[in-house]
Order: sequence, then structure tokens, then C-alpha cells
Amino acid sequence: MTLAVIPGHQASLSQADFERARRIIKERAGINLQPSKQSMVQGRLARVLREHNLYGYGELLDAVERPNSPLWQSFVNALTTNLTAFFREAYHFPMLAEFLKAQKGPIRIWCAAASTGEEPWSIAITALDTLGPSAQVKIFASDIDTEVLRTAQAAVYPVASDKGLDEATRRRWFLKGSGNNAGLMRVRPELVRLVEFAQVNLVHDALRFAQPFDVVFCRNVMIYFDAPTQRTVLERIHHAMKPGGLLFAGHSENFSTHSDLFGLRGKTVYERLPDRGMGQSS
Ligand SMILES: C[S@@+](CC[C@H](N)C(=O)[O-])C[C@H]1O[C@@H](n2cnc3c(N)ncnc32)[C@H](O)[C@@H]1O
Repeated sequence: MTLAVIPGHQASLSQADFERARRIIKERAGINLQPSKQSMVQGRLARVLREHNLYGYGELLDAVERPNSPLWQSFVNALTTNLTAFFREAYHFPMLAEFLKAQKGPIRIWCAAASTGEEPWSIAITALDTLGPSAQVKIFASDIDTEVLRTAQAAVYPVASDKGLDEATRRRWFLKGSGNNAGLMRVRPELVRLVEFAQVNLVHDALRFAQPFDVVFCRNVMIYFDAPTQRTVLERIHHAMKPGGLLFAGHSENFSTHSDLFGLRGKTVYERLPDRGMGQSS
């Protein structure tokens, strides 16, 4: 009797293929996968094998390493961790509101690891609740993962995912579905018009922004990067911001060793310091 080989059902990810996957994702996306994550990586890559009708991890990794491989995006989408929530780390939003109130003129905000969108929508809600419907705010929301960006752009969520939203906020800013859309809620168009989505790899993509940002949210992504990569990304964010702007970091991210770039102003909130030009002492 011959056994049929089913795509995605290769027995297990060998140690060598795991090391190879770790090297590729680190080089291309900065993500530092811990050695303990082998079975997680196997499970996630098995889905990619099935999606693309491939039979083995080696075949997948060969394909990913080919220049301009379409499999690269499936590989990175599978290996990112996208946990997020509305108003996650809620203590940041009153501080954002205070900062917004003090600004004069249009405000530019970058949400740099936006995942499925709950974070940029929370920023947009804070902006409109603070500054009113004519708020001059633009939010640029980006992520390396194209699948989460599709969800973010669709702006539709299960009502059951609204845990970070109080009832009044949900009613004000989301339209509840009925009929075929029962159990779903859609972000209101007033918020949608504030946010623009695009794919950005924080580690490698050229960051060409027309104007610098007043605020950057870069939360719970630096934890996946090693120290030199964190430094590179912080320098890039510093370059993309106005002096005096605020950088919001994740709850376990600490940038106090980068005090030449950012000064601590609150719980995991940093002020973008001026460029150190001629005539300034350290
Ligand atoms: C754990 S989620 C955090 C989401 C949100 N910022 C929050 O705090 O709730 C981390 C996000 O970072 C993204 N990410 C990982 N590496 C990245 C990179 N090199 N460039 C841009 N985004 C990246 C992942 O795709 C994922 O959506």
C-alpha cells in the first residue's frame, strides 16, 4: 500500500530548517524568534505549506529565499505575532489627548505596528473625542504583515472583540450590523477618513514621509527585535518625528539607554529630543 503525501503534512520541522527560518526572518524583518519556538514555527509554517501546495519545509524555505519570491509575504505573515486590542495599555490615551489639545495646526500621527487596526482606531477615537469633528489629524497606520492590514482596512470587527471599548464609545463610533452582519460592528466613516494604511517594514523599508510626525505609536513590536535592531529602528523613528513629539512604546519596552534620542515623559512614553547639532554638548 502506498501512502498519499498531503501538502503541509510533512512530519516535522527539522532543527536545521528551524534555524534557517529563524535566520531568514531575522535578516529580513528583524524578528528574533526564540529557540523555544520551534513547535510554534512548525505549526504556522505548516499552514503556509498547505496554502501553497508544498510538501516540505525545505522546499518552502528555498522558495522564500528566491529573489522577489511571492512566498516571502506568506512566510512573514505566518511568523508575526499580531495580538492587539482596542485601547490596549489604556493609560496612554489620556496622555495622547493632553498632547493633542496643546498642538496648534494639523497633527500627524504614525501607528507603526498597527496589526489588525484596533490601535489606530483607538487613536482616531481619542483625536475626535478630544478635538471634535473638525480635528485636523492624519493617522498613518502601517505593519509588515499584509493579512492584518487587510483586516484593519476592512474596519469590521466581531462585536465580541470590543472588550477594550466601553458601551458609550462603541455606540458612538461603531455601526452594529444586522441580518447577515449580525454580530459584527463597522468603524464609522468619520474615523475611517482619518486613517491611511500601508505596508512598512520598520527595519528595512525606506521611510520617505512628506512631513515629520508629531506622535508615533510603536508598541509591542520592539520586543521581537534584538538590541542593535532596536537602536536602528529608534534612529529611524527619531528621524521621522518632530522634536518635542511623543513616542508611545509597549508596556515592556524600555528605551532609557537611548537618552540621546528620546527622553522619558511618562509610563513608556518618550519625547523626541532635538537633533544634536553643532554647538550642543552631550
Ligand atoms: C504584538 S503586535 C502589536 C500591535 C499593536 N502595536 C499593539 O500594541 O497592540 C506586533 C506587530 O508588529 C508587526 N511587526 C513585526 N515585525 C515588524 C517589522 N519589521 N516592521 C513592521 N511591523 C512589524 C507584526 O506584524 C504585528 O502586527
